[in-house]
Amino acid sequence: MRQFPFTRLRRNRKTDWSRRLVAEHQISPSDLIQPIFIIDGKNQIEDIPSMPGVKRLSIDNMIKLAKEAKSLGIPAIALFPKLDNSLKDEKGSEALNENNLICRAIKELKDKVPDIGVIADIALDPYTSHGHDGVLDEKGNILNDETLDILIEQSLIIAHAGCDVLAPSDMMDGRIKEIRAILESEGLINTQILAYAAKYASSFYGPFRDAVGSKSLLGASDKKTYQMDIANSDEALVEVELDIEEGADMVMVKPGLPYLDIIRRIKDNYNIPIFAYQVSGEYSLIKLGAQAGIIDEQKAFLETMLCFKRAGCNGIFTYAAMDIVKFF
Ligand code: PBG
Repeated sequence: MRQFPFTRLRRNRKTDWSRRLVAEHQISPSDLIQPIFIIDGKNQIEDIPSMPGVKRLSIDNMIKLAKEAKSLGIPAIALFPKLDNSLKDEKGSEALNENNLICRAIKELKDKVPDIGVIADIALDPYTSHGHDGVLDEKGNILNDETLDILIEQSLIIAHAGCDVLAPSDMMDGRIKEIRAILESEGLINTQILAYAAKYASSFYGPFRDAVGSKSLLGASDKKTYQMDIANSDEALVEVELDIEEGADMVMVKPGLPYLDIIRRIKDNYNIPIFAYQVSGEYSLIKLGAQAGIIDEQKAFLETMLCFKRAGCNGIFTYAAMDIVKFF
């Protein structure tokens, strides 16, 4: 039995050196993934009003940012294309154009910044005129198996462009298995799959949908028939188990901070690398809170990163990744 005064937990907390010595977790640049929004054109930079400090960049400017991320020790970046609405249609056809924005960006990156990991979403929402991640029937139902047929083609195109990690974020059933199978059949045996395994139908994605231009297209429609119910936790373990069986190399929980319990349950039950996505709404709340003077931005971001590590994450997607490294 630990009894006062023989046990005084404050002894170890007394000095900075001692606190550092007994700290159970640390955060380093190797834990962070920087998402980047890309647009067409040359030397373009666009603000995203609902995400202070985050820009949409043309490929040339994205390359500069990727070089900086690399020099800061960040292992990987995640690319998200924002297309002109004129390129969007019901089926997300532009996703299957081998020369589309994301493929051009990946090729350029592999050429100019070969040592940084490149992660790309597999989903149709940047490409569809309705803003959903899959294709719809005439009643507006999101069709699982018809969507899979498109997603496997999208996966092949992105993998052939040189992408290191495919990150299916669509939440269709069975997609990891089909994507793994087609990659293997094409000899793309080293292309990794990071499954957005437990992705919830969250209200924290709003600023991202602004950033990729799907918010107004979605209108009042939501993603509750494919993304997980926020009330569920056991079900997240089923999602993870299936994705591991189907061939995922890594899994993701999304959003991040409100779902630390899910991260911890996965960590306790499976041996697979786990990532959290500190999503756009979480990012913007901290930024706007700091701008309003009610929170210290640096401390808040660093705290959230340690929380993710404590919960059991190997790494974190965060729009603040490059800033956080500069806060160390
Ligand atoms: C789309 C996708 C979303 C995010 C990543 N990929 C949005 C959505 O599911 O509607 C959200 C990221 C964020 O909010 O930062 N498949």
